[in-house]
Amino acid sequence: MAYSLLNGKRGIIFGALDPNSIAWKVAVRAHEEGARFTLTNAPVALRMGAINQLAEQCGARVIGADATSNADLEQLFTQSMEELGGKIDFVLHSIGMSPNVRKGRAYTDLDYDFYHKTMDISAMSLHRVLQSAMRMDAMSEWGSVVALTYIAAQRVFPDYNDMADAKSMLESIARSYGYHYGKAKKVRVNTISQSPTKTTAGQGVKGFDGFFNYADAISPLGNASAEACADYCLTLFSDLTRHVTMQNLFHDGGFSYTGVSNEVMEKFNS
Ligand SMILES: NC(=O)c1ccc[n+]([C@@H]2O[C@H](COP(=O)([O-])OP(=O)(O)OC[C@H]3O[C@@H](n4cnc5c(N)ncnc54)[C@H](O)[C@@H]3O)[C@@H](O)[C@H]2O)c1
Repeated sequence: MAYSLLNGKRGIIFGALDPNSIAWKVAVRAHEEGARFTLTNAPVALRMGAINQLAEQCGARVIGADATSNADLEQLFTQSMEELGGKIDFVLHSIGMSPNVRKGRAYTDLDYDFYHKTMDISAMSLHRVLQSAMRMDAMSEWGSVVALTYIAAQRVFPDYNDMADAKSMLESIARSYGYHYGKAKKVRVNTISQSPTKTTAGQGVKGFDGFFNYADAISPLGNASAEACADYCLTLFSDLTRHVTMQNLFHDGGFSYTGVSNEVMEKFNS
């Protein structure tokens, strides 16, 4: 069901790799809600080609940008404003990658060049996006920036590895930049902490199926789907949440505040 929540709004959506991507679902729903936006991803991801199908479906232009490159990000904002005919109202940062996770390095045996890359791609990129936008005065007043995160920023999930550190940094950047951008231009910055979700990035984490099922059994509402996450993103892009900023918002079916569930206890009852 559509509510015209984003009629007339202009956006930039990072991170739609394939139809499982959370960003893909956000794009589909934002289109249904009346937004116009550009789609962006790293050049290597664009070569896979799936994004063109989404672009056609949403009437969106695809603009390549490596989120670790200031030059790429500046070009992305310039071209997006040209394409959409004005300043940007919303940005989705849906970017995560850890070379240590990819190469199977344990948290106690990290490669530090990889560690730098994890932090640059998965956390510092949010700062780069915000700083580029602010320098270029590319966001409308009351604009909204949302980045996706995971509860491993607060609690230990042993195989989430250096991504846990990246998510802690990402959430801190949202708070700190949210203060400065709020003061300067009334732009809000939030993170959404999403349930485990079956996507390329999610399933790259060792033991993913185990913690997907565990989270589902703990959460009173069950795991939140990617589609439900997209809906939540739209509310934060809309005018209905104008005074929500600098928050880490759990979208996890109640997982974050549940100690234990009957389903999980039953497994340990002797
Ligand atoms: N899937 C989950 O279980 C889950 C749970 C909570 C949070 N998240 C977060 O959601 C976000 C989206 O991930 P997803 O699960 O949809 O997986 P995904 O693999 O579909 O998306 C990750 C995206 O990051 C992009 N990316 C990687 N390096 C980049 C770079 N240098 N520049 C620009 N883009 C780059 C990839 O191309 C890809 O599109 C990530 O931040 C992830 O950590 C995922």
